[in-house]
Amino acid sequence: MHSTAVATSLTCALLPFQGILGALESNHCLQWRKQERRCSQKARRTLVAAQFELKPPPYSLNALEPHMSHEIIEYHWGKHQRGYVENLNRQILGSELDGMALGDIILVSYNKGDLLPAFNNAAQIWNHEFFWESMKPGGGGKPSGDLLELIERDFGSFEGLVREFKLAASTQFGSGWAWLAYKANRLDVGNAINPCPSEEDKKLVVVKSPNAVNPLVWDYSPLLTVDVWEHAYYLDYENRRADYISVFMEKLVSWEIVSYRLEMAKARANEREEERKREEEEENMSDIEAVEMYLDSETDESETE
Ligand SMILES: [Fe+2]
Repeated sequence: MHSTAVATSLTCALLPFQGILGALESNHCLQWRKQERRCSQKARRTLVAAQFELKPPPYSLNALEPHMSHEIIEYHWGKHQRGYVENLNRQILGSELDGMALGDIILVSYNKGDLLPAFNNAAQIWNHEFFWESMKPGGGGKPSGDLLELIERDFGSFEGLVREFKLAASTQFGSGWAWLAYKANRLDVGNAINPCPSEEDKKLVVVKSPNAVNPLVWDYSPLLTVDVWEHAYYLDYENRRADYISVFMEKLVSWEIVSYRLEMAKARANEREEERKREEEEENMSDIEAVEMYLDSETDESETE
């Protein structure tokens, strides 16, 4: 897709030569300007389309009825999420963020809590894609296997998790999100909401976040989210956010995807731990080698004397 954009840009770059040839005829010149304008508009459109696209939910828009209506998903995904995609593509065009992966844009533009303009649109795209994939037709019920074991370890019971999650989602003031995440670090994230920096690592946590913020910025691995912006529930539930959250937990959550995400998060945490150990070993080895080289040089010098 980028090659199309480049090709369009190259065509535009050639246009000034056509303009010079036709400059003696004002009509021709006008034509060239119109052509240039059309070309740059086309290039902008092509570049926008070449970057991030509006990813559809993994089911048809009426598949979650009667718990989430076709109308609200059409509005939520088709208008709100589309807006975030179009805005981000415009914002990053030609900037240093252009060409970066969405996750990298989120981390860079979070800027330690001092948000850069692209953050909200980038994070909202990521959050919505994650939200749609957190649900399935005929969802709800109860998880099983490793996920259930960790839930029971960290929240006492499945009911304990549901209670914590509903509390976080219903008490997020204004717009935002509630999350279940896997926390495999002890980062001190001063600017974060609910950073839990002193808690032990490798555990499940429930957090809420304002506006577009998500747990990626604290280096947590998100497992589940519910959107509590009013646009997510008002058409179906009006101001009854608590009812919407209950239906989400009881009828829509895909515990299969949450289990899958947990396995991925654990694997990633283990990989990072192995990587850290390797780096420490390499550092130790290079320290030992440096000491040995120093001792060897000392020995050589004393032998010379
Ligand atoms: Fe939303």
